[in-house]
Amino acid sequence: TVSLLAFALTTTFAKADPKGCDDGEIVIKFSHVVAATGHPKGDAATLLAKRVNEEMDGKACMQVFPNSTLFDDDKVMEALLLGDVQLAAPSLSKFEAYTLKYRLFDLPFLFESLDAVSRFTRSDEGKGLLKVMEGVGYTGLGYWSSGLKQFSANKPLLLPADAKGLKFRIQTSDVAEAMIEAMGGSAQKLAFKEVYGALQTGVVDGQENTWSNIYTQKFFEVQDGVTETNHQLLAYLLVTSTDWLNGLDPEVRDQFLKIADEVTQEANARVAEVEQKNRQNIIDAGGKVRELTPEQREKWVETMKPVWDQFKGDIGQDLIDAAVASNK
Ligand code: LMR
Repeated sequence: TVSLLAFALTTTFAKADPKGCDDGEIVIKFSHVVAATGHPKGDAATLLAKRVNEEMDGKACMQVFPNSTLFDDDKVMEALLLGDVQLAAPSLSKFEAYTLKYRLFDLPFLFESLDAVSRFTRSDEGKGLLKVMEGVGYTGLGYWSSGLKQFSANKPLLLPADAKGLKFRIQTSDVAEAMIEAMGGSAQKLAFKEVYGALQTGVVDGQENTWSNIYTQKFFEVQDGVTETNHQLLAYLLVTSTDWLNGLDPEVRDQFLKIADEVTQEANARVAEVEQKNRQNIIDAGGKVRELTPEQREKWVETMKPVWDQFKGDIGQDLIDAAVASNK
């Protein structure tokens, strides 16, 4: 009876705890740095786990660790190779140590809309870029869009010249650094989980991110306002270890890849709506959003676009041309 009771309890708890995996199931741990809900990546990760856990029950089990609770984006790349996690989705700005090709996605004012991003990522060039890191052990499973980025600072920013002398937190991206320098500001690379504190204590004056990150991380609470620049893309690479993927039973792998692909499409189709909602959430919560006139926006474009020249050698003109062509 005791063991029966113990068995009943374990089963009950296993069901009640979404992280509980059964013996014999392949455990797929997914670590990311953003909010678990109300955010394009958080929601996509949850959806992926739900589908894997329902449809691959008995074969595989996915556990999601949001909010940098397990690893930050630097550490997660090592953790993938060590087998401590099997999935991650760092932004494309964070792969500089592994490939310089992804600098493409960081070029300011490259993509005019999220639809253009979808067209590019579905093109041969976009798909080819999923595989550029296989030599160093990583395979991209898909691109998860997160939105276009906006600037915020501790003073009003209407023209790039307003950023002169200010220090901005950036991701680990040399393109972002060049962009901030072109504005006359200085850049500091910081992990995502440190941004709120750095803004609050004045370690940095400003930052650039999507509506969803600015809202869910509450950055707007410690900034004067957010300027709607839409200057650059934030998108993620859903990434795994090439060895881990190749080691899966072919049938399991195919089922998993099919689910990942469907979730990618479904999540990307919702991003624009989630972003607009979080923009409105900022306003409803008392945050200030500044819109630019076409003339003001043109100044941002003029200031930042020359940065492309510095990186076209790393990226390749052919890829830049293909990305630009996706705007039409
Ligand atoms: C950042 O570091 O600002 C972003 O890459 C965080 C994220 O994952 O959206």
